[in-house]
Amino acid sequence: MITKIYGHRGCMGTYPENTLAGFMQAIREGVDGIELDVHMTKDGEIVVIHDEFLDRTTDGTGYIKDLTFAEIRKYSAGVKFSHYDAFVDQWRLEKVPTLKEVLELLKPYEVELNIELKTTRFMYKGIEEAVHQIVQSYGNNRKVIYSSFHLPTLMRMNKLDPNADIALLVEGMLPHPHEYLDYFHLESVHISKSAILNNVAHWKPVFPRLRAWTVNDANDMKQLFDLRVAAIMTDFPEKALIYRNER
Ligand code: G3P
Ligand code: CA
Repeated sequence: MITKIYGHRGCMGTYPENTLAGFMQAIREGVDGIELDVHMTKDGEIVVIHDEFLDRTTDGTGYIKDLTFAEIRKYSAGVKFSHYDAFVDQWRLEKVPTLKEVLELLKPYEVELNIELKTTRFMYKGIEEAVHQIVQSYGNNRKVIYSSFHLPTLMRMNKLDPNADIALLVEGMLPHPHEYLDYFHLESVHISKSAILNNVAHWKPVFPRLRAWTVNDANDMKQLFDLRVAAIMTDFPEKALIYRNER
């Protein structure tokens, strides 16, 4: 099985993260999948943004949970990335997208979608049902993977859609498998500097169920391609595709 390449938050090494422009760029570069993060607004809209607040990635301020969708849409999700080499004025017009808009954008393309539900800090009552409903309506039968650091969220997603891929995000040691966990998404440093590499034979059966994040270093990419983990998530998909083609 060949290791898939997912664009982390779209193509965040070169394009504004979690924006439609970034997702399109990842597709142009040839990714197998896209990873994005979702939160819920005060009025129940599912929006695609990494942080719980607007401040780092937009010219707005405040927590997503305290703002309506209309309020969030006043701000630019591209202007904070004006230091990027690829910056064009058009980026100023990028808004925090909805999950529905991303699914509409992806419609013509055969890419997998990893939706990370950011439910660790705030509970966002009903976020799992809302995300599931949007995917059912606009997902076009696309392969969707639900991931989270928050186990109760994953249990809810599994109940809502027993056929969906469910992945636990892990920062340290791999936990024991649960019946509802199909994949582990492991921080790559815990592969490259861990017991996993000292005992590859033992861990080999897990590799097809392992996706690694966030893999930007060339040697890490090559190592993970050779281990044939299920996927890597990277901020630089173009670079990863070059190294994978060389294997
Ligand atoms: O889904 C893997 C990775 O995206 C988790 O870290 O902080 O980039 O959401 P973060
Ligand atoms: Ca993420």
